[in-house]
Amino acid sequence: MTQLIDKENLPKHIAITMDGNGRWAKEKGKMRVFGHNHGVKAVKDTVEGAVEYGIKFLTLFAFSTENWNRPRQEVNALMTLLISTINKETKTLMENNVKLTSIGDISKLPEKCQKELSEAIEITKNNKRMTLTLALSYSGKWEIINAVKEIIKNKIDAESITENIFEQYLSTKNVPEPELLIRTSGEHRISNFMLWQIAYSELYFTDKMWPDFRRTDLKEAIINYQKRDRRFGRTANNKYE
Ligand code: FPP
Repeated sequence: MTQLIDKENLPKHIAITMDGNGRWAKEKGKMRVFGHNHGVKAVKDTVEGAVEYGIKFLTLFAFSTENWNRPRQEVNALMTLLISTINKETKTLMENNVKLTSIGDISKLPEKCQKELSEAIEITKNNKRMTLTLALSYSGKWEIINAVKEIIKNKIDAESITENIFEQYLSTKNVPEPELLIRTSGEHRISNFMLWQIAYSELYFTDKMWPDFRRTDLKEAIINYQKRDRRFGRTANNKYE
C-alpha cells in the first residue's frame, strides 16, 4: 500500500542540499555540466511536488561560498544555467503561485545573474502558496559573520542580544527554521548550510544523486520525517519514568 502524507503534520520549511550532479554525470561518462543540466529537471519536479504537498517554504542550496573555488568553466556554466533557468521558469513560479527569494552574498554573482534574479523576485513577490529560496554564494559561517558585522555597525547593546534579536540579522529572518533538511548523494555532512537554523532540524540523507531526485523522493522524505519523535531536548511525553 502506498503511504500517504499526513497533511496535519507537514514540515513548514524543507531545506535541500542538492548534491551528486558531478558523480551522476561521471557515471555516465559525461562532463560534470551534464549533471548540472539534468539537476534542473530535479529542481523543477521537486518545487512542483513541494507545492502539491502543501509545503510553505522550500530552500535549495544551489551554490555555496566554497563553490567559487571550482574550475572557472564549471562556475560559468552554473551561472549561465541559473540565468536561463530563472528566466524560463518564472512563468512556472507564477502558475504555481510561488514567491522566489534568495539568501547569500548575491553581490558576488555576475551582473546578468543578479539582474535575472531580482526581476524574478520582483515579479513573484505577491505569490502566496509557497516561498522558494535559492541559497546562492551562501554559507552558514558567512551568514553568521555577516550578522555580527551588522549588529556591530548598528551599535546594538551587547546585553540586549537574544536569540530572537540575532535572528533578525540573518538572511533567513523572514523564514521559519527548517524542520527537515534533506541531502542527496549519500554524503552525511552539513557542509556549511544553515548552521544556525538547523539546530533542531531532522536530517534526512538519501543515496539518490540529485539529478535522479523527484517529487516521489520528496514525499518519501516527508513521510520519514512524520514518523520521528521531535523532542527539542525534552523527554518523551515530558515524562520521568
Ligand atoms: C552539487 O553537485 C550541485 C551543485 C553545486 C549545483 C546545483 C545546481 C543545480 C541543480 C542546477 C541549477 C539550480 C537551480 C536552482 C536552477 P556536485 O557538483 O557537488 O556533485 P558531486 O558532489 O558529485 O561532485
